[in-house]
Amino acid sequence: MLVLGLQGSPRRKGNTAFLLDLFLEEARRLGARTEVVSPAREAIVACKGCGACEKKGVCVSDDVMAKSIYPLLRRADVVVAASPVYFYGVTAQLKGLIDRCQTLWSRKYRLKLADPGAATRAGVMLAVGATRGTKLFDGLHLTVDYFFDAIAARNAGRLTYRGIEHAGDMARHPRVREEAAALVQRVCQPLAERRRIAFIDAGGTGGGMMAAAWMRHLAGAAWDVFVDGPLPGGKMAALVERAMAEEGIDLGYAGIQPLESGIDAMDRIVVIGPAPVAEAAKLERWMLAEAVDAAGWARLCHEVRGKVIRLIDGAPRTS
Ligand SMILES: Cc1cc2nc3c(=O)[nH]c(=O)nc-3n(C[C@H](O)[C@H](O)[C@H](O)COP(=O)(O)O)c2cc1C
Repeated sequence: MLVLGLQGSPRRKGNTAFLLDLFLEEARRLGARTEVVSPAREAIVACKGCGACEKKGVCVSDDVMAKSIYPLLRRADVVVAASPVYFYGVTAQLKGLIDRCQTLWSRKYRLKLADPGAATRAGVMLAVGATRGTKLFDGLHLTVDYFFDAIAARNAGRLTYRGIEHAGDMARHPRVREEAAALVQRVCQPLAERRRIAFIDAGGTGGGMMAAAWMRHLAGAAWDVFVDGPLPGGKMAALVERAMAEEGIDLGYAGIQPLESGIDAMDRIVVIGPAPVAEAAKLERWMLAEAVDAAGWARLCHEVRGKVIRLIDGAPRTS
């Protein structure tokens, strides 16, 4: 399980950072791997509103968003958007990151592609503000709810704190620790209880990427899915992505999902091809047909889907 925190405050050790750390620490206690992106420390190019992503599904700005932040958002099981209130909205730095998620909005709504993680991804908002008005968090709710929709996350909960102004105020709040722990428990515990499956594609054939995407799409609520091995390169990556897109599944910005706690922690392991991995009861090996053209990739995509469905249904193993 990957929990991704977006730390929206430019203050490194302020109230937002404290609140997010508390959430992530609790998540790690449940076995989650956690990552933090602080947009104030990243060179995120502002959205130009050029509309290219609505046609092509990719952003013209080839910066840290494309290199690492989109893949992290795609891989995450839980995305935590944390921000102080700045003029009744999120900070400019977090808003810059959110605006660039127009690319993911476009893939979902213009290109009609389904993010394989959509079935399970949860979004959580954490926010603090100095004043106490009833509308203090309204602007953040609207922005963050729409952001979660664009990144295919269901709105799973929020913690908001009023009267929090100076660094250290949040740490002195009497209930924050128990409230954060309760939210983590509710959101992360069901994800932590999933069985774990790894697809190991040492040859970078694309079969592992396809299998992992089908598995997340069809059974992500029951299985925590990992895929390891080199990513398919250049032309092959495009063919794999296109074959899955024909089925409505989005492999754009999908990276590998390395085995967080090693092979022993996996309940099932699928090795793609003849890679030398010691045979074990929980391991099966898939020898997949080699694809040479678009039709071949489409057939492979169907073959992999069938194998994943048999695996989910617990049917006898085949090779
Ligand atoms: C530019 C700026 C704008 C702010 N706007 C608001 C606001 O509209 N309403 C409010 O209650 N607090 C506002 N604040 C106060 C912060 O939300 C508050 O100090 C918060 O605790 C800072 O969190 P941090 O320590 O994580 O940065 C603003 C602070 C700054 C620097």
